[in-house]
Amino acid sequence: MKILILGSGGREHAIAWRLSRDSSSSKVLVWPGNDGMSGPKLGLVDRPFDRATFSSLIAEEGIDLVVPGAEKFLYQGVADWCQGLGVPCFGPGARAASLERSKLFAKTLMQEAGVPTSPFRDLSDAMARGLDAVNGVLKEFRKPVIKISGPSLGKGVFVCESAAEASEVLLKLGQSPQPGMEDGVLVEEGVSGKEVSMFFACSHGAFTYLGSAQDHKRVFDADQGPNTGGMGAIAPVPWATGEFIRDIGDRFVRPTLDLMLKRGTPFKGVLFLGLMVGPEGTNLLEYNVRFGDPETQVILPLLEGDLSDFLRRFSTQDVTPELTIRSAAAVHVVKAARGYPGVFGAPIEAGQLITLRQSESASGKLFFAGVKRTPQGLVTNGGRVLGFTAWAPTAAEAIRDCYALLPSGEFEGEHFRRDIGRSL
Ligand code: GLY
Repeated sequence: MKILILGSGGREHAIAWRLSRDSSSSKVLVWPGNDGMSGPKLGLVDRPFDRATFSSLIAEEGIDLVVPGAEKFLYQGVADWCQGLGVPCFGPGARAASLERSKLFAKTLMQEAGVPTSPFRDLSDAMARGLDAVNGVLKEFRKPVIKISGPSLGKGVFVCESAAEASEVLLKLGQSPQPGMEDGVLVEEGVSGKEVSMFFACSHGAFTYLGSAQDHKRVFDADQGPNTGGMGAIAPVPWATGEFIRDIGDRFVRPTLDLMLKRGTPFKGVLFLGLMVGPEGTNLLEYNVRFGDPETQVILPLLEGDLSDFLRRFSTQDVTPELTIRSAAAVHVVKAARGYPGVFGAPIEAGQLITLRQSESASGKLFFAGVKRTPQGLVTNGGRVLGFTAWAPTAAEAIRDCYALLPSGEFEGEHFRRDIGRSL
């Protein structure tokens, strides 16, 4: 089987690596990929990405399965293009991808489906009417969280301690509109507790559990500093087991898939649930409609069986194949470039020569993200540059091995967290 993966980061490298290990895959192409990705079955596609070129490539290469990594491809309608071309795609169509693209769509759907989530209000109307109207709505919330509804480059969530603080946030947003606000702004009640990410493979009402993970979003140790795309992850989350997984399937995944089916926009692909478990019970914070980055780098090494075959058959509603999650743990640590995550306009350094000192083994793998090949060698070319995953029978061993195999000083300005997995 020939597989095409869309994206260029560590997540796509992990998907490509995992699928290329399967006996059913003969060739794995990544579009555009990055210069650090290599392997016996791996290849990169160096063409501009548009619908016509996509259709030509599918035909020329005889692609049997498309796996979109980044959500932008889904928003563009790649899964719909694939349907038109008759090629299986493990990802939702553009309308179903609204579960992630629009927070208002997602919250409204959760409410209609009876999926547990905190109360919310659409603020768009009140914002158009003025500050008094906004403050009237905010008064209903004890701990207001303001969210920009549309894609906001990870900068659209404001956790506030009071209605007054939320009002100030909205005043600022009114004065300098941010990306994603064209889809609206909402306020929801903040919930507290422990966060967990849960992953399910879904296709037309059927679903299979793929695993749980904990992401580390802040740039510095002990969850300090600004938010990033994710500085590391650990899987599984030890308390997310048997009954908890069944409950998430019954009360969160099942009603979501049923309602999407009923609306005529069946969901296919990865449903990645961001959940908060605490005094207010288990609440859904958000849906994502694709694999997480860097969660994928710890989820996939723990999946046993032929994942390529699973994804293709699952995408085509063939019989639901078996997939086993190994009883082990995986830890991934990201190395980032100086300046990442680039808040307040700070530049993210690029062009630093990378001198690899990693030792890959049967229980560890290096994944590349923001890198570029030059005549001098591989250089940094993005915020999250590379990351290392180690897996072992227990979480403690995986953490130990990951840090032992991840040496410092591979490029000028590198920084990484030293506490990944230690707060489970
Ligand atoms: N690591 C968070 C995400 O992929 O959305």
